[in-house]
Amino acid sequence: MKEVFVVEAARTPIARAGKQSWFINVRAEELTAIVYKELRKRCGLEDKKKQAEIIDDVVWATCANAFMEQGLNIGRLAWILSDGAYEVAGCTVDRFCASGLQSIQYAVSTMMCGWGGDVQFAGGVQHMTHIPMGAGADIHPDLGKYMDLGAINMGYTAEIVARRFNITREEQDQFAYESHMKAAKAQEKDKVGSVTIPVKVKVPAASIAKRNPNPFNKEAAYVASDHLAKARAEKGEEDVEVVVAIDQGTRPDTTLEGLAAMPTVFMQDEKATVTAGNSSQINDAAAGVVLATEEGVKKLGLKPKMKLVSYAVIGLEPEIMGIGPALAIPKVLKRAGMTQDQIDLWEINEAFASQSVYVQKALNLPKDRLNVWGSGISIGHPLACTGARIACDITAMLADPDFSDVEYVVESMCIGHGHGAAAIWQRVK
Ligand SMILES: CC(C)(COP(=O)(O)OP(=O)(O)OC[C@H]1O[C@@H](n2cnc3c(N)ncnc32)[C@H](O)[C@@H]1OP(=O)(O)O)[C@@H](O)C(=O)NCCC(=O)NCCS
Repeated sequence: MKEVFVVEAARTPIARAGKQSWFINVRAEELTAIVYKELRKRCGLEDKKKQAEIIDDVVWATCANAFMEQGLNIGRLAWILSDGAYEVAGCTVDRFCASGLQSIQYAVSTMMCGWGGDVQFAGGVQHMTHIPMGAGADIHPDLGKYMDLGAINMGYTAEIVARRFNITREEQDQFAYESHMKAAKAQEKDKVGSVTIPVKVKVPAASIAKRNPNPFNKEAAYVASDHLAKARAEKGEEDVEVVVAIDQGTRPDTTLEGLAAMPTVFMQDEKATVTAGNSSQINDAAAGVVLATEEGVKKLGLKPKMKLVSYAVIGLEPEIMGIGPALAIPKVLKRAGMTQDQIDLWEINEAFASQSVYVQKALNLPKDRLNVWGSGISIGHPLACTGARIACDITAMLADPDFSDVEYVVESMCIGHGHGAAAIWQRVK
């Protein structure tokens, strides 16, 4: 088996989906194309002839709603939109919330066994403003015989986990509060600046009244096209052109009192605990990595950053999908012949605080080593982008002096419809 390394990583900022999204005027293919272009630039692969010679495949992810702008094999069409060489192939995969990690695993696996060449791009995108989660869903009439159909709605599963495993509202709000505080601190120091691509784009005027999208005054690396902005202007919407360089959804002003006062959103009975404050956000973003075998590393002349040690997925009852990481992590550790005490950092996507608290308690994870710069609640959870977003941010952590002692990082997430995924990353020294 060949060894495969991550040699580059980049992502767009993460916009908070909805009427105020900083990416309301940028389609999913364009977010993807921006990541492709940036990865090619970082790897010295701007020349099309070189791309054709060196890059074997692009494995991209979008999930739940692979239609409209996310359809027609977005992995391939976005490559063409990015003015990439035709000779480089491209596909699109879906494992719901793990899709961005799954695309990396598929690329790594084919490269390890010799079927995937020496260099591949992998990652994912989700535009939850343009294509809301659940849009176009068409459930088979018999599915309800085999699963609780409530579990199609992820918020419902968060309530079930809280109830079945006695996770209180206070525990959830505390977890959400800490997530925002960690992310706010990281954002203040621009911890993920090295992997985040500043994009010039027209954003809703009201959206920047609340947050400065470019607190470090960065130059734009790319300028978004203006088709959607023109259409909005014709409808009388007020947009302003800015450089977006940070994640939009982090709320440094979060307080425990504010969270405690928020109404529940998915269930309304007296036991309900899940609010907009202790749920992951809905988001628009793309993220990707460049993977290379030893031969590929030589061709690119780059230094490997990290490698995938092992990967595992598990399946479980859909209504408690949130506990997936508590099952996937022991499986991946066993598969790698490792134990929990060997892991230095834990990056476990926060779909909801209820499931995050469950996983933290079930595995007794050290809080100071869990989601150290925030996660889905505070950074965002653009479904199929998330797995790749986490991988990108791990490369930034490994380069950060605060984590110079870190060798192994676990990345994991729960997955809608009842499964979980986990991967172990190792620093390449
Ligand atoms: C929960 C959910 C429905 C909330 O949607 P929303 O109403 O658009 O959420 P918002 O983030 O806009 O928050 C709504 C309001 O709550 C308040 N709020 C949210 N987080 C807050 C915080 N940390 N502190 C204080 N107020 C907060 C704000 O008033 C906010 O409105 P504002 O942005 O205009 O100030 C949505 O985020 C969701 O569906 N999340 C789960 C997504 C999911 O299932 N993913 C898959 C997981 S497997």
